[in-house]
Amino acid sequence: MGATILQGKTILLLGAGSIAEAMIRGLTEADAVDADQIYVTNKSNEERLQFLQDRYGVKTLRNLDDEQGIAILQGADVVLLASKPHDIPRVLERIRGTIGSPVVLSVAAGIPIELMERILGSSVQVVRAMPNTSCAVLSSATAVSYGRYCTPEAKQLAEAILSMLGTVSVVEEHLMDAVTGVSGSGPAYFYYMVEAMQQAAETLGLPPETARTLILQTLFGAGKMMQETGLDARELRRQVTSPNGTTMAGIRVFEEAHFKELVEQVIARAAERSRELGEQQASIAE
Ligand SMILES: NC(=O)c1ccc[n+]([C@@H]2O[C@H](COP(=O)([O-])OP(=O)(O)OC[C@H]3O[C@@H](n4cnc5c(N)ncnc54)[C@H](OP(=O)(O)O)[C@@H]3O)[C@@H](O)[C@H]2O)c1
Repeated sequence: MGATILQGKTILLLGAGSIAEAMIRGLTEADAVDADQIYVTNKSNEERLQFLQDRYGVKTLRNLDDEQGIAILQGADVVLLASKPHDIPRVLERIRGTIGSPVVLSVAAGIPIELMERILGSSVQVVRAMPNTSCAVLSSATAVSYGRYCTPEAKQLAEAILSMLGTVSVVEEHLMDAVTGVSGSGPAYFYYMVEAMQQAAETLGLPPETARTLILQTLFGAGKMMQETGLDARELRRQVTSPNGTTMAGIRVFEEAHFKELVEQVIARAAERSRELGEQQASIAE
């Protein structure tokens, strides 16, 4: 249903890197929008544009200043900002005054909506999203916030696009740093846990490949159990923890080491760092 709103819409991606490719892949694989209604451009890497054109059938633009470039800028329903945060102000300056009335959807970390609205001027509909690295396999946990001029249709459009990358959660913008601490950095916390489990498994004598298979499937299976049963983590843990059994013995060690407090500190520190970086980013862009 989300995808139908995209039919017939023109999407212009400013940036052709990894996140742009994930979005193009998600949109084209789901047949959400015809590939020839997706336009992509970048700063200078011609080879990259050629690759995206050959692989996904999207259209590429080498120049936003020629007749075709201006027509696409004026007519695009969605302008997707997919360049690095420090390039965003320049990109916005470039499109200001030429764009029609699109939804401007940014995935750039740390760039506030207010800054984008200010650079673009007038009542532009700005959406700020924070996907995570799992968007590369279309399994992102994405958070999204809306600018003050967004209509319900703009929100639907943005959510339809972002849902091609994985799940979408709407949050107030002031919570974006918390989101970064939880789901932005989140994949790395699980990778770190896997590293620790791998090391422990090998110490106990398991061959590395066997350990990897067991741990990976355990992680995947636990996630799937949570998703498919709808039960919360505490309940699922209770179900596998019999009194005086092996799991309880292991969990006791976590408790003695104050594991939950540690995780709280980890996430709070990552959120704080996101705030620091955002402040730096915004002052550079001013
Ligand atoms: N990758 C992720 O998993 C992820 C997750 C969350 C958020 N993000 C956000 O997504 C954004 C892009 O990340 P990425 O990993 O895809 O970066 P990337 O692979 O480095 O790609 C950046 C792209 O921006 C282009 N670009 C630079 N200046 C431009 C300009 N003036 N006009 C048009 N295009 C321009 C670059 O073109 P050239 O190659 O020609 O220089 C390149 O295609 C970042 O803001 C990041 O915060 C990424």
